[in-house]
Amino acid sequence: MNKSQNPTHNVLLGVTGGIAAYKSPEIIRRLQELGITVRVVMTESAEKFIGEVTLQAISGHPVYKDIFSSDDRVMEHIDLARWADKILIAPCSADFIAKLTHGFADNLLSTLCLAAECPIFLAPAMNQAMWHNLATQDNVEKLKSRGVEFLGPAAGNQACGEVGYGRLLEINQLLDEFCNTEKLLSGKKVLITAGPTQEALDPVRYITNHSSGKMGYALAQQAQRAGAEVTLVSGPVHLPTPNQVNIVNVISAKQMYDAVMENAEQADIFIAAAAVADYSPVDIAEQKIKKSQSELNLELKKNPDILSEVSSMDNRPFCIGFAAETENLETNAKEKLTRKKLEMIIANRVGQNESGEYKGFNSDQNKVHIFTPMGSHELPEMKKSILAKQLVELIALTYEKAYEKKHTT
Ligand SMILES: Cc1cc2nc3c(=O)[nH]c(=O)nc-3n(C[C@H](O)[C@H](O)[C@H](O)COP(=O)(O)O)c2cc1C
Repeated sequence: MNKSQNPTHNVLLGVTGGIAAYKSPEIIRRLQELGITVRVVMTESAEKFIGEVTLQAISGHPVYKDIFSSDDRVMEHIDLARWADKILIAPCSADFIAKLTHGFADNLLSTLCLAAECPIFLAPAMNQAMWHNLATQDNVEKLKSRGVEFLGPAAGNQACGEVGYGRLLEINQLLDEFCNTEKLLSGKKVLITAGPTQEALDPVRYITNHSSGKMGYALAQQAQRAGAEVTLVSGPVHLPTPNQVNIVNVISAKQMYDAVMENAEQADIFIAAAAVADYSPVDIAEQKIKKSQSELNLELKKNPDILSEVSSMDNRPFCIGFAAETENLETNAKEKLTRKKLEMIIANRVGQNESGEYKGFNSDQNKVHIFTPMGSHELPEMKKSILAKQLVELIALTYEKAYEKKHTT
């Protein structure tokens, strides 16, 4: 990472009360080496761990602490929030994560975070039990869903003598993620489908499946964070729209097909994560079907295969499919990759296990196997939000390689 690659000029570094505050001067120095201007805001507790004078001397600016400052900078929280291109809070205490989650504005740092419109990055550092506590984990999930970025924490030996997750990320990695991240798809248009579709039988009934849309929504959020302009074509789900993503809500497979075809030509990358119904009723009854017959036969017709249609376009985007399989995962996924002429297929097992829990569909965790024409690899089971970040990085790198190849041959 060198200066010319770095579009960030003004970083507001928040320092909160934790042992790792002694690392803040090094973070300031390393950011300055990248040509970044750093201003520091510290909490009252942070002062117990690191001196204001040190941070002031290294940053070359006064350190901001008090929301009611004594001089003429009366709207400091707003001015600082406007000034910053990015806010980095390192180390970020458990307390500060909780404050941010609940929208507290009881000190300068929490107030300006609330007023800020720029990206916010938190580098947590705390005892491993504090990190794993459900209260903290709940807060972290909420902040992530609002677009706040987490850098770390790392695992290892802790100042308290315990071992586990909670250490401040190693500074090289922290700065790498802070400066480089999220721009892998800069300038790219990404079209994503998510959720199930509903195929009406009559005015009150429909055929559908167990897809929750969580994977597609997580991918949309991560692609947006990676700098892409994202259009999400979504079937009926109960999820909040990801930040700064264009959403097109649809119900049936036919509506999803139309929405995708309208956007596919402009897209650089198409990720088909929706569980589109393969069939829909030939006729939709105008009135509610009565319970008069002992047997009811439904006549179904095949729906258009959205992914195949997009991958056969002349000016096709880079196409990624999902294969949700209950059996023969590898064989079926590979067959789909070839038949639909895809650049990548992400396969997972779906269905209910012995305890009645759904795997893949409608769960927060997922375990996938990725196939490309070049080979395959498996990722361990992890949260869909984390998996989505890894998949977006992989998709971006595979896209870049394919694009480079196209332009050098
Ligand atoms: C010696 C000592 C070390 C601490 N280290 C941490 C820490 O590493 N991470 C953390 O979240 N809290 C830590 N705390 C607790 C915080 O300092 C405390 O929650 C404080 O209220 C945080 O305030 P702030 O979020 O406004 O900075 C520590 C407390 C003490 C006394």
